Amino acid sequence: MDGRPLYLEPRLGPRLRSLLAATGTLHTLTDALGSPLHVVVPDQIAENLAGFRSVYRRHHLSGQVFYAHKANRSSALLRRLAATDAGVDVASLGELQHALGAGLTADRITATGPKNPEFLWLAARTGVTVSVDATAELEQLAALVRRYALAPVRVLLRLSGFETPGVRVLSRRSRFGTPVRESETLLKAVERHGDAVDLTGVAYHLDTTSVAEKATAVEGCLAVLEACRSRGLRPRAVDVGGGFGVSYLAEREQWEAYTTELTSAVLGRRPPLTWGGHGYGLREESGTLRGALGLYPAHRSVAGASYLDELLSRPAASLGGRPLAALLLEHLYDLHTEPGRALLDQCGLTLARVLEVRTQETGGELLVRLAAKADDIALEDHGVLMDPVVLPRGGAGPGGGPVAVHLFGSLCLESDLITRRTVFLPRRPEPGDLLAFANTAGYAMDFHATRAQHQPAARKVAAWQDGDTWRWCLDDQFWPITPSGGAQ
Ligand SMILES: Cc1ncc(COP(=O)(O)O)c(C=O)c1O
Repeated sequence: MDGRPLYLEPRLGPRLRSLLAATGTLHTLTDALGSPLHVVVPDQIAENLAGFRSVYRRHHLSGQVFYAHKANRSSALLRRLAATDAGVDVASLGELQHALGAGLTADRITATGPKNPEFLWLAARTGVTVSVDATAELEQLAALVRRYALAPVRVLLRLSGFETPGVRVLSRRSRFGTPVRESETLLKAVERHGDAVDLTGVAYHLDTTSVAEKATAVEGCLAVLEACRSRGLRPRAVDVGGGFGVSYLAEREQWEAYTTELTSAVLGRRPPLTWGGHGYGLREESGTLRGALGLYPAHRSVAGASYLDELLSRPAASLGGRPLAALLLEHLYDLHTEPGRALLDQCGLTLARVLEVRTQETGGELLVRLAAKADDIALEDHGVLMDPVVLPRGGAGPGGGPVAVHLFGSLCLESDLITRRTVFLPRRPEPGDLLAFANTAGYAMDFHATRAQHQPAARKVAAWQDGDTWRWCLDDQFWPITPSGGAQ
């Protein structure tokens, strides 16, 4: 191996650390249920929820934490949440049915995202709150309510295109939500359909890590709530969506060293660090670096509940510089959040069996083929770079020091790369070993899963600690009352 290894070691909380130490159990599970295999840890989601709740308490705010279901299809995680006081944000008919079936009542569910008529009807029929994307959707909903003689439906108005008091638009363009400058039309529609909808608040979801952009959006929402009140409407909540993020890596230094070396490799100043010279968005043009790094910031000093804390503590530039939380509290507005990835932090891992380890005749990296497809371990689809943990089949074994490898999937497709980068492992993996990809519960388990080439999508199990022992069941067999299975 040329040069020193550039590790990107996963950040492991106590639960995942303990689960990874149960090597025998993890091997037995994959022997029985196949590779790849997803393992979810329902108790962790309840702990993450408590972290969000404590930020609410610190700022004296009331409101609901709605888990963004789209990030993982797991029944176990959803049912574990049903045993808490959390809500769920559903983005499809199937997710709504799943949430109702898991025991979440309509008052704990919001329907967001693009909606087909069946989804809208079931939402209206069961009385969940609908986050309305546009005037046309509001009209459609009102028509359903009248046609089927349903009770008025609670609605939030999803807004986008927020601006600072100057002209510069600070929040990025979104194809979802109604631009704030068109909110007047939406409010007129709410008034027109007052018999069919009950306006409870306004909402946004911005796909950005920028706290400044989100603070601008909260200020924009507060201004629209004021406009509502001056028209005699009585909304009482701001829903700030999701996007609180996760810090995936254990060490900031490793992340910084990796991105620095990647840049050097793209500029040709060191040997390539990726398969086929891929630059993750960066490229070299006449000796100059161009493009932008298209990666998730895998080490973040502020993420999850702390990110919410930072947002709420931020002074509102257009509203006298007072913290956003103080402004929400002063108006007695509820704060709703829709964390997906952040609630799933440390909630699972994905196991893949090593099938083949090939040495290249020309030397260089080992070619490691796994019993998994790239879409089963979709960390790279989300721009997350993180090393797997090697779980040797027969105990620790000889190892022989660090190696550089390329990780391939099991499809006969050049592009089926588990990761495009060269991965450094502390020891040479052998056929039969498992690679454990930590922290895959948020979007990396089933969001992209396919059955290409008749290869099965990964199965999923739920695992929990019973004293010193890890117990498990199939994901859809898990209920909070499963013997020792979670909620007390
Ligand atoms: C409306 C809405 N809310 C919440 C989320 C969850 O975002 P995250 O998983 O980044 O918290 C999403 C993600 O796409 C979304 O579209």
